[in-house]
Amino acid sequence: MKKRGRHLICFPAKMAKMEVKTSLLDNMIGVGDMVLLEPLNEDSFINNLRKRFDHNEVYTYIGSVVISINPYRSLPIYTPEKVEEYRNRNFYELSPHIFALSDEAYRSLRDQDKDQCILITGESGAGKTEASKLVMSYVAAVCGKGAEVNQVKEQLLQSNPVLEAFGNAKTVRNDNSSRFGKYMDIEFDFKGDPLGGVISNYLLEKSRVVKQPRGERNFHIFYQILSGASEDFLCSLKLERDFSRYNYLGLDSAKVNGVDDAANFRTVRNAMQIVGFMDHETQSVFEVVAAVLKLGNIEFKPESRVNGLDESKIKDKNELKEICELTGIDQSVLERAFSFRTVEAKQEKVSTTLNVAQAYYARDALAKNLYSRLFSWLVTRINESIKAQTKVRKKVMGVLDIYGFEIFEDNSFEQFIINYCNEKLQQIFIELTLKEEQEEYIREGIEWTHIEYFNNAIICDLIENNQTGILAMLDEECLRPGTVTDDTFLEKLNQVCATHQHFESRMSKCSRFLNDTSLPHSCFRIQHYAGKVMYQVEGFVDKNNDLLYRDLSQAMWKASHSLIKALFPEGNPAKINLKRPPTAGSQFKASVATLMKNLQTKNPNYIRCIKPNDKKAAHVFNDALVCHQIRYLGLLENVRVRRAGYAFRQAYEPCLERYKMLCKQTWPHWRGPARDGVKVLFNELKIPEEEFSFGRSKIFIRNPRTLFKLEDLRKQRLEDLATLIEKIYRGWKCRTRFLLMKKSQIVIASWYRRYAQQKKYQKIKSSAIIVQSYIRGWKARKLLRELKHQKRCNEAATIIAAYWHGTQARRELKRLKEEARRKHAVAVIWAYWLGLKVRREYRKFFRANAGRKIYEFTLQRLMQKYFLEMKNKMPSLSPIDKNWPARPYLFLDSTHKELKRIFHLWRCKKYRDQFTDQQKLIYEEKLEASELFKDKKALYPASVGQPFQGAYLEISKNPKYKKLKDAVDEKIIIAEVVNKINRANGKATSRIFLLTKNNVLLADQKSGNIKSEVPLGDVTKVSMSSQNDGFFAVHLKEGSGAAGKGDFLLSSDHLIEMATKLYRTTLSQTKQKLNIEISDEFLVQFRQDKVCVKFIQGSQKNGNIPTCKRKNNRLLEVAVP
Ligand SMILES: Nc1ncnc2c1ncn2[C@@H]1O[C@H](COP(=O)(O)OP(=O)(O)OP(=O)(O)O)[C@@H](O)[C@H]1O
Ligand SMILES: [Mg+2]
Repeated sequence: MKKRGRHLICFPAKMAKMEVKTSLLDNMIGVGDMVLLEPLNEDSFINNLRKRFDHNEVYTYIGSVVISINPYRSLPIYTPEKVEEYRNRNFYELSPHIFALSDEAYRSLRDQDKDQCILITGESGAGKTEASKLVMSYVAAVCGKGAEVNQVKEQLLQSNPVLEAFGNAKTVRNDNSSRFGKYMDIEFDFKGDPLGGVISNYLLEKSRVVKQPRGERNFHIFYQILSGASEDFLCSLKLERDFSRYNYLGLDSAKVNGVDDAANFRTVRNAMQIVGFMDHETQSVFEVVAAVLKLGNIEFKPESRVNGLDESKIKDKNELKEICELTGIDQSVLERAFSFRTVEAKQEKVSTTLNVAQAYYARDALAKNLYSRLFSWLVTRINESIKAQTKVRKKVMGVLDIYGFEIFEDNSFEQFIINYCNEKLQQIFIELTLKEEQEEYIREGIEWTHIEYFNNAIICDLIENNQTGILAMLDEECLRPGTVTDDTFLEKLNQVCATHQHFESRMSKCSRFLNDTSLPHSCFRIQHYAGKVMYQVEGFVDKNNDLLYRDLSQAMWKASHSLIKALFPEGNPAKINLKRPPTAGSQFKASVATLMKNLQTKNPNYIRCIKPNDKKAAHVFNDALVCHQIRYLGLLENVRVRRAGYAFRQAYEPCLERYKMLCKQTWPHWRGPARDGVKVLFNELKIPEEEFSFGRSKIFIRNPRTLFKLEDLRKQRLEDLATLIEKIYRGWKCRTRFLLMKKSQIVIASWYRRYAQQKKYQKIKSSAIIVQSYIRGWKARKLLRELKHQKRCNEAATIIAAYWHGTQARRELKRLKEEARRKHAVAVIWAYWLGLKVRREYRKFFRANAGRKIYEFTLQRLMQKYFLEMKNKMPSLSPIDKNWPARPYLFLDSTHKELKRIFHLWRCKKYRDQFTDQQKLIYEEKLEASELFKDKKALYPASVGQPFQGAYLEISKNPKYKKLKDAVDEKIIIAEVVNKINRANGKATSRIFLLTKNNVLLADQKSGNIKSEVPLGDVTKVSMSSQNDGFFAVHLKEGSGAAGKGDFLLSSDHLIEMATKLYRTTLSQTKQKLNIEISDEFLVQFRQDKVCVKFIQGSQKNGNIPTCKRKNNRLLEVAVP
C-alpha cells in the first residue's frame, strides 16, 4: 500500500488505519518544512518547532536541511521497520526524518555518483554524535550485505565506542560530550557497498586530562578502567579501584546517572577487538592510560638551594617508580626531567632547575601530551584497520560531527578555536546553500533574484587572516623573542583589530567600549555570527605554544615501552630539530582549511541539531534557549534564503499526481506531458500568474499560501471523491453480490438437473444390464450345451479309436512275440544241435582230462571263496563267544569244525597271554574249585563271580590280634571268621579260622586266643552237603593230638574258597589229595560219639540262612531253604 503512485481508496472511518503517505504534506503537524511557514518570523518558527516537538516530531525540514531537536529520550522512530519505510523513498515523500536525509545522500552517492558530506552542527548536547551514529547505522542497514561487507560495516560502527571512550567526557551540558572533532569518510564501491573509511580528528580538549571544571569528569576511559577492569588487570596496571586515589579524577561527579562504566569498559574492549586491535596493543594502550592517571599523583615540594634559587623535589617516589616500571623508563631519567630543563642555544646546552610550579606545569604538560598523542595514535590505528583494501575508485560519504558553537562564562583558547571552526562551517553552509539555490534556478531557467543574507566571511577573516588575523597575531607573539605574556598578546590585538567591526575590547583604540563595564580588561569579545563571545586572554599564549620540555620528550623516547617511544619521535636525539613545532592555532587552522577544501568537493547535507533545554530533560522545550540557537545557527536566514525566490518547488509529475483530481481535464488521467497538465490545472484553478513559475522540470510556487490553498482544495476534493468512490463501491458491491447469487442459482440448478438425469440414467442402465445379462446367460448356456455335446462326440470317437488301436497293437504284439519265440526256439535248437555236434566231435578229447581239471578248478575256487568269506565273518575274540558262521558246503564239514577249534584255542591263548602271574594263580584256584565243585555243590555257581581273597581278616593290622599274629609265624593263606557249630545244641559260635602253610587254626574271635591248632597232615577229609549252604566238617586223623576234641563242624560264607585252598595247600604240603566228600548226610566225630549231620529242604522262615538243630543224640539236622 505504501508504494508511490498508487491511488488511495479509503473511507473516512478507516482513514486513520489505512493511512498511506505520498507526501510530506499529508497529516502534517505544524509545517514539516519551515519554508512553508506563514507568516515567517522567529515566534512562528519557534512555535512550529515546539508544536512538532510536543507531538514527538523531532525533525523538521528547511528545504533539504534537517533540523533535529534532541528529545532526550528514546523514541520508537529508529526501528528496522522505519529504516524500511524510508528506504528508496523521495525526500519529501514522508514526514521529516534523519533517515530521509541519509537515504537521499546514500542514493545520490550510489546512483548519481556524487560524493556526499553530512554536516552535523549544533551546540554541545544537541545530539550531533547521536545523529552521526543514526546516519551511519541507516547507511549500514540499507547498503549491500555479505560476510566481507558486514565485517567492514561492523568495524566502521565499532570505531565509535572506542573513540567515544577516549575522546568523550561528561560535561555540564552533556553526559557524553565529544571533546574532539571528528570527520569520517566512508568509502563505497560502484555498487554502493562499503569498502572502508578514514577518520580525521580535530583538537582534542587535552586540558581536561589534568583539570576538569566543576561538575564535569575526565575522559570516560579512566572511570571505565577503574570500574570495569578485573582485579588482575588493574594489578598489572598498578592501579587501584578507588577514584579518590587519583588527583586527575574530578570527584564531585565521578558517577554519572544512567551510565554503567564497567559495562562500557567491556563494550570498549570488545569494540577494540572487532576493530582489529591486537592483545598486546590493547594492553599497551591501557598501560599508557594508567601512566597518565598515575602522573597526576606525583607531587613536588620546594627545596632551597645555596644560590637562593628554589628547586623542586618529588615528595613520594613510589608513584614515580611504578610509572617507570609500567613504561620502562629509567627512574633517574624521568626524575631529572621533572627537576631540570635543558635549553639549547647556539649549540650550547644550559640546564636550569625547575621550581615547584614549573615542575607541576611540566608534569601536566607531559600528561596532556601523552594522552592527546595516544588519542591521535588510536585514530591512526583504527584508520589502519578500516581503510579500504582496494585501489578501485571510491565514492565517499563524509560525516562531520564537530563540536558546536560554545559560549561559556569563561571562554578560553579552546572555545576560540571551536567557534572559529563553526564560523568556517557556517560560511561553507551559506556558500553551498546559496550556490545550490542559485544553481537550481539556473538549471530550471528561472530568473535569479538577489537574496539578502549575512555573510560571515568577515569574521573568518578577523580570525584567520594571514597578516592581521587573531591567530596570526598569536603566533607572532609566541615566536617573538623577549618577554611574551597573554597581556602583550592582547595589547597587540588591541592595536591591530581595533577598527574591526566584529572585534571588541576595552583597551582598543576604538573608544566605543571604553565604558563597557561588561567587558573586563583582560578579555576581548568577538561578534560571531551566532552571537557575541567574550574570551579570557589568559592562557592563550601557553596553549598556543603547547610546549613540552625537551627533557621530557627525550625521557619518553628512552622508554622501553614501544608505544610510548613511538608517541614521542621528537625525543630521539639523532633527529633533533631546533625548529619550533607549529603552534596549536596554526595546526588547527591548517586542518580546518583542509577540511573545508574537502567539504567543498562534496555535495553537502545538513543536520542542524537543537537542544530543547539545559536540563537534559525530556518533554521540556525552553523557548529562550531554542530561540538563541535558532539565531546563531541562522536558521531563519536559511529559510529566507530558501524562500527568497519561491517557497515551494516540486517536479511536474508528482505535482500533477497530487493535484490532478482538482481539474476535470486532468482527472483521472492526463495523457500529455506532465508540465502541460500542471499548466491546465493551474489555469483551471485560476491561480494568479505571479504566484508560480514554470521551470524546466519543476513548478515553483512563490507563496506557501498558494500551496496550502491547493492542499485545502485537494482535501475537499478527496472527501468528495471518497464519497463518490464509496457510492460506486456500494453499487458495485451490491451488483457483484446479485450477479454472484444469480450465478450461484444457475450453478445449483444445473447441478441439480445433472443429478436428476444421472439418477434416471443409472436406473435405465441397470435395467439394461439385467436384460442383457439374462440374454447373455441364455446364449452362453446354449453355447455350453453345444460345446459339451461336441466334446462328448469327440471323446467317444477317441475311445473307439483307442480301442481299435489297442486291438491292432495287441494283435501286432502277439504276432511279434510269436515271431520272437520262434526265433528263440530256432536259436536254442540250433545251439543244442551245434552243442551236440561239437560234443560228439570233441568227446574223445574232453574225456581224457578236461573233466578232472574242471573239478579241481571248481574245488579250488570254492575253497578260495570259503576262506575269503570266513575272513570277513570271523566272530569276536572273546573266549566265551559261541558264535561261529554256518558251514557253506557239506564237503567242508570237518574243515569247518577244525577251523572253529583252532580259532577258539588261539583266542584262548591270546586271552591267557594277557594275564599276570598272580591272575594266573587266581584262575588256577578257580579252575581247581571248578573241578572240585562244579555240578556237585549248589553253592558253587554263586562263588564263580567272587574273587578269592583269602585274608578276609587283617590280622596284622588289627592290634586286637597282635598275640595271635605273634603266635603264627607262617604265611597266612586264609583268615576268616567262621561259625563253629556246637554239637550239643546246634548253635553257632564265632571263631577265627586261619590256614597257614602247615596248619589249620581256630581262635577266639574276641581275644584272639588260639583254641585249636591242627597240622595239615592230621586233616583227613572235608565233608559238605550238595546244597546251597556253607556248612562243612573238617575230619581229623584218629589218634592225632588234635582229634581229642573231635571233628570241626563249621559254616562259612566262603566255603568254596576255603575248601579249595585247604585242598591245594594240603596237596602241596603233603603231596596227598584231600578227600572232599559231598553228601547230604555224613558223620562227624564228636569226642567219642559220632553224630550224623543231615541236610534237609527247609522252609524260608529265616530268609536264606540255613538253620541247624539237634534232633537227638545222633542227629543234627540242617534245614537249607
Ligand atoms: N535522537 C535522539 N534520541 C534520543 N536521545 C538523544 C538523541 N539525540 C541525542 N540524544 C541524547 O542527548 C545526549 C547528547 O547527545 P550527543 O552526545 O549526540 O550530543 P552532541 O551534540 O554530540 O554533544 P557534544 O557537542 O557535547 O558532543 C545523548 O547522550 C542522548 O542521551
Ligand atoms: Mg558529540
